Amino acid sequence: MEETLVIIKPNGLKAGLIGEIIGRYEKARLGIRAMKAKHVSVAEAEGFYAEHKARPFFPELVQFMTSGPLVLIALKGENAISSARNINGATNPAQAQAGTIRHDFAPSITENMVHSSDSPESAKREVSFWFEENELVAYPIYSHVRS
Ligand code: CMP
Repeated sequence: MEETLVIIKPNGLKAGLIGEIIGRYEKARLGIRAMKAKHVSVAEAEGFYAEHKARPFFPELVQFMTSGPLVLIALKGENAISSARNINGATNPAQAQAGTIRHDFAPSITENMVHSSDSPESAKREVSFWFEENELVAYPIYSHVRS
């Protein structure tokens, strides 16, 4: 079992794609432990993406992530990190495989619609960046999982 932090970026909300996107994780049996919509501040976006501070795309990334509300989701499930990354597709939508969220909906690398953690260490940091421990519910048990 792994945890991961997914973000549906502001263009996902503007396009009315929250349900479509969450449905893809749910079908993969990734369970929601916590979720909230939030209009994040510049300081929060800069802190969350601190590892990219020196990259040329950083100002544009922060500008985009603070341009409107986004949805933060803590997911848990079997191989949650690679599973969410496979569902999302390559960071650059131009290189994403058909059927992935970024291939199907995202217009550009900055506006690539979703984020998910890239390692167990970053998942731990990213989940606790946005959620208090007491906001996380127990991993949901799916009644429809086939044995
Ligand atoms: P995300 O998974 O949210 O992590 C960092 C984000 O920076 C990435 O998705 C992209 O939205 C954005 N970004 C913009 N340009 C680049 C780039 N050249 N390489 C990596 N990430 C980029």
